[in-house]
Amino acid sequence: MTSIDRDRLAALIDRERAAYRDRFPRSRDAFAAAGQHLLGGVPMTWMRMWSGGFPLYHATASGARLTDIDGHEFIDFCLGDTGAMAGHSPAAVRAAVSRRYAELGGATTMLPTQDAAWVAAELTRRFKVAHWSFTLTATDANRWAIRLARQLTRRPKIAVFSYCYHGSVDETFIVATEEGPRKRAGNVGAPVDPRETTRVVEFNEPAALERELSHGDVAAVLMEPALTNIGIVLPEAGYLDAVRELTRRHGTLLINDETHTFSAGPGGCTAAWGLEPDMVTIGKSIAGGIPAGAYGLTAELAQRILADPAADIEDTGGVGGTLAGNALSAAAMRATLGEVLTDEAFDAMIAVATRFTAGVRSVLDRCRLPWTIAQLGARAEYRFCPEPPRTGGQSQAAADTELDEYLHLYMINRGILMTPFHNMALMCPATTDADADAHTAVFAAAADDLLG
Ligand SMILES: Cc1ncc(COP(=O)(O)O)c(C=O)c1O
Repeated sequence: MTSIDRDRLAALIDRERAAYRDRFPRSRDAFAAAGQHLLGGVPMTWMRMWSGGFPLYHATASGARLTDIDGHEFIDFCLGDTGAMAGHSPAAVRAAVSRRYAELGGATTMLPTQDAAWVAAELTRRFKVAHWSFTLTATDANRWAIRLARQLTRRPKIAVFSYCYHGSVDETFIVATEEGPRKRAGNVGAPVDPRETTRVVEFNEPAALERELSHGDVAAVLMEPALTNIGIVLPEAGYLDAVRELTRRHGTLLINDETHTFSAGPGGCTAAWGLEPDMVTIGKSIAGGIPAGAYGLTAELAQRILADPAADIEDTGGVGGTLAGNALSAAAMRATLGEVLTDEAFDAMIAVATRFTAGVRSVLDRCRLPWTIAQLGARAEYRFCPEPPRTGGQSQAAADTELDEYLHLYMINRGILMTPFHNMALMCPATTDADADAHTAVFAAAADDLLG
């Protein structure tokens, strides 16, 4: 295996940083001017995580293409970190949104529209669980699924996997270490120590899950069927069956968070792998970029929660959101699921992702780089370790901020946008084989430059 010369890498990062500063002067100036009243100089503080010292400013976007305010065009594999998995402003969603907002009028009224019931039926067709409710974000879908699980089981805790990400859900910022569970570093203003609310285990370790569930105090396991937020960590053969068997045996509900794993197919991993969760949560992409999330539960659980005299799910019971289920989001979800992220669209997206993955793999083999790439349907991600990581902890250990910065800047300076927090690439229905090949060519050039 080829080893990385760190001095060479540092020099290349300097070169790419300088090129970035020179190439995007309008974005640089816009960022400098925005600092006065925006917290951290950006509309949302995670936008500071783009490499290069300032983010690009977005001007226009369509399908898999995005342009910045300096007039450069990018092939967008970031796709709003999955929010734009349907592609940017697909025609069907554009029409549905403008019809709802401009022609019919009324984005939010506190009244149902008929679109929501259509969407719930479609989500049931795809993800199997029978009853759905809506939120504006995947974070809220998870928060509310957790609350329902606690109410239904009368148990206080949840269980999650080390280095999971389920949005800004307090209970989930916890990692497993050799010294026991610890709050995740940097957690801002946590209401309580997450060890009070949460048990945490490594992914792909059924014995650890069994140990934690045997305490009998876990309402639900909240999981991505494959981890996608610490690189992609795929489940080993039989692991998800073991999770299901253990949760059933210990009276613990199973919540599949399909927000990112939706990339596996029209019904996410739940349908692609024949899983049987008690609840499913999803968000980000289901409304073509318009804010919307959803959580679904089985008919049996739905009946129990509706009949529970101690559960106020209508008023002040902690489940809600004035704009949740609004008419605009519902119209956008209907158009996205009905006309854009269709069963057929996934076949094409996954084929492009397979080509993307093969392209990267051919470069890794040719250059004998000790890195790996994992694919989950329409999504792929490279990681800086020779073997695919089995657990979140292993994947975290393979993080390399210098290589991340180098590759991000190299790509962005050559018209390719990757997800800023890691090296994730997502295909939308408009992404083409030529786009995947363009990435392979730039990735190959980055590898060749790195190796000298
Ligand atoms: C698996 C998963 N669930 C939930 C969320 C939260 O999504 P949002 O920030 O849109 O609420 C994310 C965000 O990255 C996610 O990856």
